[in-house]
Amino acid sequence: MSWSRKHLLDLESLSREEIETILNLARNFKMVGERRVKKVPSLTGKTVVNLFIEPSTRTRISFELAAKRLAADVVNFSAESSSLRKGETLKDTAQTLEALNADVIIIRHSASGAAQFLTRCVNASVINAGDGAHEHPTQALLDAFTIIEKIGTLEGKKVSIIGDIAYSRVARSNIWALTKLGASVTLCGPPTLLPSHFTRLGCRLTHNLDEAIEGADVLNLLRIQHERQLRTTFPGIGEYRTLFGISQKKLEKARPDLVIMHPGPINRGVEIDAVTADGPRSVIKEQVTNGIAIRMATLFLVVAASSGNSTHIEDLTAFSSIHKTGPA
Ligand code: CP
Repeated sequence: MSWSRKHLLDLESLSREEIETILNLARNFKMVGERRVKKVPSLTGKTVVNLFIEPSTRTRISFELAAKRLAADVVNFSAESSSLRKGETLKDTAQTLEALNADVIIIRHSASGAAQFLTRCVNASVINAGDGAHEHPTQALLDAFTIIEKIGTLEGKKVSIIGDIAYSRVARSNIWALTKLGASVTLCGPPTLLPSHFTRLGCRLTHNLDEAIEGADVLNLLRIQHERQLRTTFPGIGEYRTLFGISQKKLEKARPDLVIMHPGPINRGVEIDAVTADGPRSVIKEQVTNGIAIRMATLFLVVAASSGNSTHIEDLTAFSSIHKTGPA
């Protein structure tokens, strides 16, 4: 088993083995995060740029922490105060960052395909931190990591993704990761937000919330993406909450060990009520914490590959045993 990708653009093109390589490495990096000294020298001398042209709290900060824990230099690009506001193109912006010695560019952009486009403009490694409604690969990796941590495996498990599927890059990346790792995926939402072509990705579709909850091991609730929707596709907040919002009452027939997830940010009282979001079944905070380890693993692997070191699993095992013995 090896890793040879210089970029992480999507999960559609990754094999199960490659996904498992990231998850296994992230397990070791999580241990680094639990130590008093939360740093390893893996990316010393490398420069990582967070090129976020859409808002973000969790993804941007956890990429920044991940890079810092790997001892890289980190630059956070602020779109609002950049020359993008003067009309500079994305290509010129990326090439400027590369001229400033960026080794890795992490991009979030409203256009699907922006990360792929960047790979044609620069030699640096590119990581997709969310492109339009296309993919958000590291979110799905941290979601898979959190589920496995909680219930041991995805093989044979039932995961229901509920909400705004049509406009969700999180849904698409989750579908690729979950199905490749052996889970059965049910998608649930209003007909306008759940196009029938999602059956082609191997998912079961339902517009009935009770059906999505019954027998599910995991519910992954998605944010209503008001910024991407046409006004006509959303039923209205009151109607959405009544039909698809998760509350204690709606969970009366759920499995007692049901795990509740949400990638954040939450619209409290719309996708999920506060009692459930903050309750014992919720792993929303664990998802955020696990994002750091997943992003450390991703950064480590793309840098290793771009340095011409196809990273073999034996090297990763050796790497993890070295770092396990670091300062506690
Ligand atoms: N889940 C997620 O991508 O959150 P942010 O938009 O805060 O990064």
